[in-house]
Amino acid sequence: MLAIIGGSRLAQLPILQITHRQVVRTPFGDPSCALTFGRIDSQNVVFMARHGYGNSIAPHELNYRANIWALHSVGVKRVLAIGSVGGIRPDMAPGMLVVPDNIIDYTWGRKHTFYEGPDRPLVRVDFTLPYDPELRRAVLAAAENSAVPCLDGGVYAVTQGPRLETAAEVLRLQRDGADMVGMTGMPEAALARELGLQYLHVCHIANWAAGKGASPERIQFADDALADGMAKVQALLTVFCAQ
Ligand code: HPA
Repeated sequence: MLAIIGGSRLAQLPILQITHRQVVRTPFGDPSCALTFGRIDSQNVVFMARHGYGNSIAPHELNYRANIWALHSVGVKRVLAIGSVGGIRPDMAPGMLVVPDNIIDYTWGRKHTFYEGPDRPLVRVDFTLPYDPELRRAVLAAAENSAVPCLDGGVYAVTQGPRLETAAEVLRLQRDGADMVGMTGMPEAALARELGLQYLHVCHIANWAAGKGASPERIQFADDALADGMAKVQALLTVFCAQ
């Protein structure tokens, strides 16, 4: 089964033909919301709104462990995680979709592992390539087949939030090698790896990162680019599920 995690701009997934909802509890607490099950084409899908259906849980307050555990516990094998980011690289303009190929984690204080407590074995999970290569290829192929423009590759910097970055912080991220910046990519991706799930981010560029673009003194979110971005995400998911 495929899981789709919707970001703050995608708390509902209109292309999903819903069959039922299920409340799932986990040893790590409650996930953000009940899981919504259904189909897109012939693909069985479970949808989760990362910030809750009311979009009320901030990035640093999400129970990432409960979310990923809940998906794993209902039989999910693959996760497509949608997230809004700010564009740092010049071609990462608002409205674009990007399938990143790596991550730099700047978050702190989040419950970031299942390997905790005295009676758990120490496991060093390989995270060299944080995204599943097979899933990356399949999503990029769907982008090509659906004629949805989608950039292939880029480094996703994950910041703590909930405030946006300063211009100086974005310059530092850029010097570190980051191409886009968001707040929810970690520890979600690492927790998925710990449970052996195939995981991939599909990022939607909502704005120029602080200090970038035509209005470097203030971040602007373009509402039309956002609506357009979500339409593109759904077109991409539709073709992906039909492949
Ligand atoms: N910074 C951090 N997170 C974000 C941004 C940003 O500019 N845009 C959307 N999520």
